[in-house]
Amino acid sequence: MSGRTLPHPPVQQPASLFESCSWFYSLCREYLFRDHTAEISRALFPPEGPAPDTHVLELGCGPGFYACRLSEEYPQIHTTGVDLSRRLLARAKSRAASRSLQNCTFAHGDAHSLPDASNSIDAIVVSRLFLIVAKREAVLSEIFRVLRPGGRCFIAEPTSGFRTRIPLGCMWLLSKLSSSPAGKYREPRQADVMTPTDFSALIHSQPWGDVELQYDGWYQYAVCRKDREGLTGLRAPTIAWEAV
Ligand SMILES: C[S@@+](CC[C@H](N)C(=O)[O-])C[C@H]1O[C@@H](n2cnc3c(N)ncnc32)[C@H](O)[C@@H]1O
Repeated sequence: MSGRTLPHPPVQQPASLFESCSWFYSLCREYLFRDHTAEISRALFPPEGPAPDTHVLELGCGPGFYACRLSEEYPQIHTTGVDLSRRLLARAKSRAASRSLQNCTFAHGDAHSLPDASNSIDAIVVSRLFLIVAKREAVLSEIFRVLRPGGRCFIAEPTSGFRTRIPLGCMWLLSKLSSSPAGKYREPRQADVMTPTDFSALIHSQPWGDVELQYDGWYQYAVCRKDREGLTGLRAPTIAWEAV
């Protein structure tokens, strides 16, 4: 025996409901959920529109709804949609292809650990992601890290446990009816919707230059601007994007 420590075998993650029910989630996104494109544009871009080559990241993009909407509306920008679900990414890609979008790409990745350089991204869109992720503060800290000084993020989270329970419950049911190993999904049976107090505490866990919080009944929003140049202690990326 050499005494060398063997690497740990990769930890097998439970399956994702978004992977097994990608078609169902895509339908919900297209026809059921609210379209916040106008609010996103107002929050992230100046009134005359985004500058050429503005790079927008959509984290947890699912079927790429906002990445495609923004790319279509602003041909001068480039959007990258990032998600853990390969099937949803495939749907996002074909959504972009069906609209002949050249300025919209997609990558497989984890919002907890982004490969982008610190202070490099102009704007970030996050819709309905924090109710699903394991470590909210870690994701927000990555958003803060990769945004450039002056860059903004738009975050939209549902406020109604009941309304989020319906699509998630349907996904559980559909997965149970299919051949997937029911009961072994990484997502919770009920979405963990944040109270306004939790949402505000999460947003303020990062040292934003400016924060605007809004509530409108079904959704809570945060628009945050980063002021400061790369703070000490920000983690340098060690991984690369896997384009899909
Ligand atoms: C509720 S959906 C929201 C999708 C889309 N943003 C929307 O507005 O409909 C959550 C998405 O986040 C993805 N996701 C979950 N955890 C993730 C993570 N750690 N990193 C990246 N994406 C993640 C899921 O695969 C799913 O597509």
